Amino acid sequence: MAEHPAYPVGLRLAGRRVVVLGGGQVAQRRLPALIAAGADIVLVSPEATASVEAMADAGEITWQRRRYEDGDLADAWYALIATSDHDANTRASAEAERHRVWCVRSDDADAATAWTPATGHSAGVTVAVLTTSARGRDPRHTAAIRDAVVEGLRDGTLVAPHHRTRTPGVALVGGGPGDPDLITVRGRRLLAEADVVIADRLGPRDLLAELPPHVEVIDAAKIPYGRFMAQEAINNALLEHAKQGKSVVRLKGGDPYVFGRGMEEVQALAEAGVPCTVVPGISSSISVPGAAGIPVTHRGVAHEFTVVSGHVAPDDERSLVDWASLARLTGTLVVLMGVDKIGRIAETLVAHGKSPDTPVALVQEGTTAAQRRVDATLATVAETVRAQDVKPPAVIVIGEVVTVGPGI
Ligand SMILES: C[S@@+](CC[C@H](N)C(=O)[O-])C[C@H]1O[C@@H](n2cnc3c(N)ncnc32)[C@H](O)[C@@H]1O
Repeated sequence: MAEHPAYPVGLRLAGRRVVVLGGGQVAQRRLPALIAAGADIVLVSPEATASVEAMADAGEITWQRRRYEDGDLADAWYALIATSDHDANTRASAEAERHRVWCVRSDDADAATAWTPATGHSAGVTVAVLTTSARGRDPRHTAAIRDAVVEGLRDGTLVAPHHRTRTPGVALVGGGPGDPDLITVRGRRLLAEADVVIADRLGPRDLLAELPPHVEVIDAAKIPYGRFMAQEAINNALLEHAKQGKSVVRLKGGDPYVFGRGMEEVQALAEAGVPCTVVPGISSSISVPGAAGIPVTHRGVAHEFTVVSGHVAPDDERSLVDWASLARLTGTLVVLMGVDKIGRIAETLVAHGKSPDTPVALVQEGTTAAQRRVDATLATVAETVRAQDVKPPAVIVIGEVVTVGPGI
């Protein structure tokens, strides 16, 4: 056949018969996409891998346990020919040709009438990469191009702004604990598409440096209002920019709903009729201990973990935390915003029955280059924090899990 380029097309296979010959590794790799496309899949093969068998058991494909026979492709729209028997594959592709069924062949790209592109997905788009001719086929190269494009779209290094679907509004994005690699793929993409970013002090601040020059970056901590007006001022800034038709990202540390006042911002936007989407983030309450080698649960040690705010002291009338009950729990206690009050917190836990020898770890600036871990016990933690000059932001872990790891 002359070396014409393949003609790229997207097949809409929902409800249409697709015949797969051979139940080995090739079928195992290709079947999930055919299932996702809603195809009516008939697998013809005496054997199948365990994963393919599981697809048949789950009713995702119909499996006929036998060898290929002439006539199998008669009613197919599309065929994947991938048996280990070259002669059977040749007979099957001849049948496909007779019935004008497009077919892919795992053993002979030249004899195939269709090729499977290397595919990937990002934000509602399928990226499919094909080599131009059979002679130039290099599956690793096409896969590498696919990976580069999909990764670029996901992490925002390849910016392809939406034109029709891009709606102005606010995205409340949980940025994770600080390491720029620990934001979600969706968060990173929205950041890359933003016109305005309003960022907190905590979170992946390094990502802000990568934004294109036209993006307006606003430091939430520096919005000029009185201390107690800060949240209202942030809400106003979000509304003001969104109402100008801009795409606004509110970049927050960790997860927006873990001591992040995320819902207050969602409510303010809803009241003003501004569309808002919330993107979860990796909370420091779990990831920062993990980064310092502390699991919040461990088999045989802790079957629960409780995350509390320590921003007000236990005897403060504004405190909503029942420290007496927490002292009775056997699991892990994770305290955020607790560095200033840790002395009073430790005293209260001990006063309500927790052992003064209970291990405590403070992890400061977790997941960043400045991360440090300081260990103590409930009896010594107040003095240790002073002596070691532990500063916020820090996550405090109280419980036996502190000592189970090899340490980092
Ligand atoms: C206002 S809360 C926000 C929590 C955030 N929404 C989350 O899910 O991680 C701020 C507190 O989170 C903790 N924190 C956040 N990032 C941290 C980090 N990288 N290292 C240590 N503590 C961190 C500290 O206890 C800090 O005082």
